[in-house]
Amino acid sequence: MTDLKNRLSNYQEEINTAIDQYLPKQNSMPPIIHEAMRYSALSKGKRIRPILALETVNMFSNEYKKAMPAAVAIELAHCFTLVHDDLPSIDDDDLRRGVLTNHKVYGDGMALLAGDALLIDAFRVISDFQKPLEVVPTVISLLSNALSSNGVIGGQVVDILAEKNSLKHDYENLKYLHLNKTAKLIQASVLIGAEISQVERSKINILKDASEKIGIAFQIKDDLLDVLGDVNKIGKNIGRDEELGKLTYPKVFGITQAKKMSDNLKFESIDLLKQIDNSDKLIEIFEFLVDRNF
Ligand code: IPE
Ligand code: IPE
Ligand code: MG
Ligand code: MG
Ligand code: MG
Repeated sequence: MTDLKNRLSNYQEEINTAIDQYLPKQNSMPPIIHEAMRYSALSKGKRIRPILALETVNMFSNEYKKAMPAAVAIELAHCFTLVHDDLPSIDDDDLRRGVLTNHKVYGDGMALLAGDALLIDAFRVISDFQKPLEVVPTVISLLSNALSSNGVIGGQVVDILAEKNSLKHDYENLKYLHLNKTAKLIQASVLIGAEISQVERSKINILKDASEKIGIAFQIKDDLLDVLGDVNKIGKNIGRDEELGKLTYPKVFGITQAKKMSDNLKFESIDLLKQIDNSDKLIEIFEFLVDRNF
């Protein structure tokens, strides 16, 4: 295994163990909801958002373990977005992380509730946070803003409107969509790591710009994989965006240009990160976010 692969899989293992510990036990009443929550939260995700938070902490100190509750919270919130995104009334997808989507196994009502419960648990987990206690309000603010109607939910609304052609398929709407439905949670993951590390404003501002750019590039890559990806690698059915009439970068700009745009955003974000000492590991992860084939 390469160093990066090793590093990612070590983080993944630690994150999975922590998620398992923080989630309600499978047999606690009523078991079906806890089974449904665990089904999605413990399925084989890349865990890139919690990894970004932990790697950002690691860039400033070796104390990434203190950020584990925040990292788990971010991933649980992300899992909520996935469970709801797959519902028949949104993207109507059958496959996620290589297995049936939550509603295909547990039914629409249970998937809706499992998503709700994952989101609520994200904030319960943050309340477990001890060190440093004074950053807790900032962590809550960053995560809730990123998920809000001015963040992921807003992006998902525009995604649905664009699909129904109630919204122009132009660059302005596309930028709003990718910034909100995806980049803001990725950005919050990095900034939560930075706030936990209590670094100075000038560095936070650099990380803010860099993580927004890589977040948009990440969603462009997701759009590209929906056209070019291998189902067995990405664990999702491909061609869904085209079938649903989604507003995507390949749709507006074509594949070649969309690739160029995600690469350029990647290069710009890396140039920004280079201004921070000891950023090489985080840079490798930023590269992976766009160069990945899954
Ligand atoms: C999928 O996110 C949803 C998007 C915002 C593109 P990921 O590609 O991080 O999915 P998992 O967590 O690895 O399954
Ligand atoms: C995901 O966008 C955004 C979310 C908030 C989950 P997509 O709908 O493109 O994500 P996938 O392709 O289903 O993972
Ligand atoms: Mg969607
Ligand atoms: Mg989807
Ligand atoms: Mg997609």
